[in-house]
Amino acid sequence: MKQESQLMEKIISLCKRRGFVFPGSEIYGGLAGIYDYGPAGAELKRNLKEEWSFEMSRRHENIFQIDSSILMQRKVWDASGHTAAGFTDPMQECKKCHHRFRADHLAERGIKKCPDCQGELTEPKKFNLLVETHLGPVQDDSSLTYLRGETTQGIYVNYKNIKTTMRAELPFGICQIGKAFRNEITPGHFTYRMREFEQMEQQYFVHPGEAEKYFGYWKGERMQWYLSLGMKKENLRFRPHAKDELAHYAQAAEDIEYRFPFGWHEIEGIHNRGDWDLSRHSQFSGEDLSETDEKTGKKFYPYIIETSAGADRLTLAFLVDAYNDEDKDRFVLGLHPKLAPYKVAVFPLLKNKSELVAKAQEIYHALKKDFVAAFDDRGNIGKRYYSQDEIGTPYCITVDFDTLDNDDVTLRDRDTTKQERVPIKDLKKILTEKMYGS
Ligand code: GAP
Repeated sequence: MKQESQLMEKIISLCKRRGFVFPGSEIYGGLAGIYDYGPAGAELKRNLKEEWSFEMSRRHENIFQIDSSILMQRKVWDASGHTAAGFTDPMQECKKCHHRFRADHLAERGIKKCPDCQGELTEPKKFNLLVETHLGPVQDDSSLTYLRGETTQGIYVNYKNIKTTMRAELPFGICQIGKAFRNEITPGHFTYRMREFEQMEQQYFVHPGEAEKYFGYWKGERMQWYLSLGMKKENLRFRPHAKDELAHYAQAAEDIEYRFPFGWHEIEGIHNRGDWDLSRHSQFSGEDLSETDEKTGKKFYPYIIETSAGADRLTLAFLVDAYNDEDKDRFVLGLHPKLAPYKVAVFPLLKNKSELVAKAQEIYHALKKDFVAAFDDRGNIGKRYYSQDEIGTPYCITVDFDTLDNDDVTLRDRDTTKQERVPIKDLKKILTEKMYGS
């Protein structure tokens, strides 16, 4: 356990030192469950979202990506079940200090007394996790609404718009990436459980008779995606939900879990949500969201297969997976090139030779048009390699005196440390082939 928490400490320290993740509002002492991404982290997370977007939408003809608003009518959350007392997460409150804790998180850790003051805890009760806000100048009950607790609902309220504008027929999907907010009672494990986070969710609308087939299909697709981005197979597994832990809307649910240093935990949920969502939104909005079966003429609500992942939680999982400090001679963050924040770094061999610096700058600026690139002329070459390995840059280029005569450079591979001489004019082609295969 000590070793595990040490590993998390090392990852958190790397994140701070190299500009991946900082505590939110840090100069004011931080804000629980809130984090900011620095330059390297913002690139990594953006790459991850870009890969997801390609995989879940652009690669398909029948999955449409949208960008719906964070604020919606309050009734949306009544329809979804989020505001109803029976549907929120059970919490326990300390009778002495009145702090509240998620009952399932306490049970997970076998905790029976208040973790803060050892006081007696109430029986589990349901509390609302939605973050409240007011819209408009008057702050009363009529102006109350919520910051969205999941991106999912923005998809359902646009179901009809997408169906009409895209002339979509079942089965088809709608997906989106966006911020979500939850008043998590026990945020923790760094960016694993946050109060402001980003989701990457897809809702696949199917004929009820095909729901089971597509549930299996999406399970396979999603697992394959993690493997295709280099995540280690032994750190991934499925965990089916038991009947008594299924969410109120779910017919079936399985989590994809990742082996974090603090144990196996969910990174993505795959749910068969049945016809709960479209029937509820039809009922609450008065808009008929049902379909008509062409053969029987009967009306039905499409079933929904949801794939729901968190961009922050996945960023953390990929960082943990890439973190490997077992090699005594060097440290390498082994991120897949598609995810790596910087694709290539350019160095002049010597800092005080202006002709080398000028040539290196020229190459760096040319490569910057196609790749996120870094330039470094500090310290010696060894230190620069170390610095780039530490943030996972797959390729480094060194400009030396031969470059000035031959128009070629040394290209060094992060994983093998092998170096080869390549012509400057071919750099774009060679880097593209090495990183993306063509
Ligand atoms: N629409 C279904 C839904 O929101 P969820 O299991 O509550 O389901 C889906 O969330 C995913 O969103 C999780 O697998 C996780 O990756 C991410 N997520 C949920 N709560 C989070 C939090 N507090 N902090 C970071 N990520 C979170």
